[in-house]
Amino acid sequence: MTLPTTAQRIDGNALSSQLRGDIARRTAALRARGLIPGLAVVLVGDNPASHVYVRNKVKACAEAGMHSVLEQYPASMSQADLLARIDALNRDPQIHGILVQLPLPPQIDANLVIEAISPTKDVDGFHVASAGALMVGRPGFWPCTPYGCMKMLDSIGYSLRGKHAVVIGRSNIVGKPMALMLLQQNATVTVCHSGTANLKSHTLQADVIVAAVGKRNVLTADMVKPGAVVIDVGMNRNDAGKLCGDVDFDGVSQVAGYITPVPGGVGPMTITMLLVNTLEAAERVAAE
Ligand code: GUN
Repeated sequence: MTLPTTAQRIDGNALSSQLRGDIARRTAALRARGLIPGLAVVLVGDNPASHVYVRNKVKACAEAGMHSVLEQYPASMSQADLLARIDALNRDPQIHGILVQLPLPPQIDANLVIEAISPTKDVDGFHVASAGALMVGRPGFWPCTPYGCMKMLDSIGYSLRGKHAVVIGRSNIVGKPMALMLLQQNATVTVCHSGTANLKSHTLQADVIVAAVGKRNVLTADMVKPGAVVIDVGMNRNDAGKLCGDVDFDGVSQVAGYITPVPGGVGPMTITMLLVNTLEAAERVAAE
C-alpha cells in the first residue's frame, strides 16, 4: 500500500529565481553608480566535480550582471604561487569576492590559503575571521550552504524560537555554522555526528532536521517526528547513478511537514547565497 505524500516541498530552484531577481536589481543599482560587483574563482587541478561547480558559479555571476574571473591552474601549482595570486586578488579593486575551490592538491595547505584571503573578500565564509564573526554574532560572511538553508526556512515563514533543531554532521562548511545560525534564531540545537550513540533518539525529538553528512539514507521515515521540517544538504548518487541526498526522500515525505528535494533543493541556494555575499561585499565597498 502506498501512503499519500504529506510533506510540502521547499523548492530551491523557485526560491533561487526569486532571490536572484532581487540580486540582479541590487547589482544594477551598483552598476548605475559605476561599481560592478566582481568575483574571482580560483581552481587548482582537475577535479571533475570542481570544474562543474566553478562553471556554474561563473555562469550565475554573468546572469546576475556581475563581473567574474575564473583562474585555472595545474595540479602541480606550488603553494607559494597560489598565495601570490591570492595576494594580487586581495589588492585588485575590481574583485570584491574571492573563492578558492576546494579540495586543493596535497602540496597546498588549504587552511593557509583560506587564511590568506582578505576577510573583506571572503565570500565563502571559510576564513577564521568569518567563522569567529558568526560565532559571536558580528557582521561577516556566512558560509553559503547553511545560509541558503536558513533562507529556505525563512521562505516558509518558519519561526525557530522554542523549536528543537537537530543538525546531522559537524563539518566546518555546513554542520558547525548551521548549528550557530539556528542558535542565533533561538532554536535549541543538537549536533549529531559519526560518534553519536543513538541518532534516532535525537532526530525523533526534532522540529527541524538538517542532514549534512554525505551518505545516502542517513535519515529514514522511522527517525522523523510527524510534521517536522527536513532539510537535505547531501549530494550523493544512488545505485542507478541518480543524484540523491542524505534523506530517504520518498519515505520521509510521508511523515515530514516540509522537505527539500535533491536535486532542486539546497544546491541552487548555495550558489545564490554566494551571489548575495559577493553583492554584499561590493555594497560594503560602495558604502565606504
Ligand atoms: N568545494 C565543495 N563545496 C565548496 C564550496 O562551497 N566552496 C568552495 N570554495 N569549495 C567547495
